[in-house]
Amino acid sequence: MRILFLGDVVGRSGRGAIADNLIQLRSKWRLDFVVVNGENASNGAGLTGSHAKLLLDAGADCITLGDHAFDQKDMLQFIDTEPRIIRPMNFAKSAPGKGARVFDVGGGRKILVAQVLGQVFMKRPFDDPFSAVDQLLRAHPMGGMVNATLLDIHCEATSEKMGMGHYCDGRASAVIGTHTHVPTADAAILPKGTAFQSDAGMCGDFDSVIGMEKSEPMRRFVTGMAKGRFVPANGAATLCGLYVETDDKTGKATRVEMVRQGGRLNQTGPIPA
Ligand SMILES: [Fe+2]
Ligand SMILES: [Fe+2]
Repeated sequence: MRILFLGDVVGRSGRGAIADNLIQLRSKWRLDFVVVNGENASNGAGLTGSHAKLLLDAGADCITLGDHAFDQKDMLQFIDTEPRIIRPMNFAKSAPGKGARVFDVGGGRKILVAQVLGQVFMKRPFDDPFSAVDQLLRAHPMGGMVNATLLDIHCEATSEKMGMGHYCDGRASAVIGTHTHVPTADAAILPKGTAFQSDAGMCGDFDSVIGMEKSEPMRRFVTGMAKGRFVPANGAATLCGLYVETDDKTGKATRVEMVRQGGRLNQTGPIPA
């Protein structure tokens, strides 16, 4: 299975880059399944229903969210009308929507997609992500109930993300970090066959502070005082993420390539330029 995961879409710049490029990437890289993290797609915080539709129409098969899942209030209702949107499994117990779902991929194949929030350095404490993931993976063995499994681990600390990668090694096709918006250079296949990257990076303008127009975050760092609100930077976005090929029989990853397309970062992807 050829899977593309794209990290946090930030604002209009990120949405535009998805709308302008994803359909072409789907055919160019012959993708079977595309997952896009949409937690910052609407004004940098959360995802509206109409922007979710835009990402799905542009070629995403599934959208994951994050700690900003419900910053846009209409997502509280919308998520129950759109099964292709996944919020973190260990969000508040009363949260609407689901944290994991099995999707049909074509050719009778199935992929499990799940998202979980980490605990280290996060603003509020969430339930233990490791026991939640363990339960889920035991219920959906690869090579049995599903042909592939992708986990989006959404948190600050690279240590916690790496811990989760190894915890799932051999039990998931890919464990991919999100939330910090900066792609890490550690994409690899772990010893037992799980593709891993500590952070996929964002789909947004890198002439920014993690996707936000840089003047206000810089002012707060330099002076310790806020003057305005954070707004997404609107220059050309780099699409950042991870391309993974898996064996349909075992679910294990056979190839992994970092993806950086367009915008300011140096370019890479599964097919050499
Ligand atoms: Fe984010
Ligand atoms: Fe986040």
